[in-house]
Amino acid sequence: MKIEKEYILSNGVIIPSIAFGTWQIPNGEVAYQSTKDALEAGYRHIDTAAAYGNEESVGKAIKDSGLKRAEVFITSKLKAELKGYQITMDEFHKTLDRLGVKYLDLYLIHAPKPWGSSKDALEYTDLNIESWKAFVKLYHDGYIRSIGVSNFGPEHIKPLIDATGFVPHVNQIYLNPGVLQEETVLFAREHHILIEAYSPFATGRLFESKEIHEIAEKYHKNAGQIALRWSLQHGHLPLPKSVHKHRIAENLNVFDFEITDEDMMRIDKLSFKR
Ligand SMILES: NC(=O)c1ccc[n+]([C@@H]2O[C@H](COP(=O)([O-])OP(=O)(O)OC[C@H]3O[C@@H](n4cnc5c(N)ncnc54)[C@H](OP(=O)(O)O)[C@@H]3O)[C@@H](O)[C@H]2O)c1
Repeated sequence: MKIEKEYILSNGVIIPSIAFGTWQIPNGEVAYQSTKDALEAGYRHIDTAAAYGNEESVGKAIKDSGLKRAEVFITSKLKAELKGYQITMDEFHKTLDRLGVKYLDLYLIHAPKPWGSSKDALEYTDLNIESWKAFVKLYHDGYIRSIGVSNFGPEHIKPLIDATGFVPHVNQIYLNPGVLQEETVLFAREHHILIEAYSPFATGRLFESKEIHEIAEKYHKNAGQIALRWSLQHGHLPLPKSVHKHRIAENLNVFDFEITDEDMMRIDKLSFKR
């Protein structure tokens, strides 16, 4: 099974099939250096968010990398607690300013409801629709090359489509060995929405599994490479995060082997507490 280094979104935009994740990388030297290390290692897709607080350092690293803007696919996200048409417009332009760019390749609604809200996410449907209308406007105005959502289930996506007729290009969700999100993945397939698999190492807990290391040994790879290859073989776009140069590089070295169907099913059944 050949895995392509790029996918094509439903609107024809080309998106590198692995992204460098930057959650929990502090703004300043660490975010700057790790983003630079990622670009040097060959990543061409960087995933940040207003909520991560590191857009400035990520943007500076991209600028200083010597790569042309068009060579790097940049994703950012609208904060989960900021919803509505005008607020989305304002927040989007703040993100552009912090990153120091004129457009984004992908912009996502970070979550269907504010983090920690005790309300059901469906109570935010009207506000999510208003944000989505702003996303569609920014897309048509040429400020964003593709738009999507994150942490949305089918029940949160359907109202956006019904209200605007515009299907998200991407849904970025928590997905790693043992957490298959089958219903959301099936809905995405039916609507040509690319699934981005965040926390591909279960935020590090993957490495505590004896079984994943056993499987890795068989392929002469490490546990992280197995998890990323597994994600790619399922057709997802994984977003590994690391602040260590050697790990950043090895997490990209997943295109030269193939996991058997039997081992794919074994990995499907692993489980990591969230
Ligand atoms: N949309 C959302 O709501 C959402 C939520 C969570 C995450 N995300 C995205 O997904 C990205 C990744 O998820 P995540 O940050 O939860 O973490 P992750 O990528 O699942 O795991 C990162 C952890 O694994 C360690 N690690 C990385 N490579 C390794 C290797 N080769 N060997 C051993 N340990 C390794 C890292 O440590 P070191 O850094 O010390 O190497 C870190 O502790 C985020 O950065 C973000 O971009 C999105």
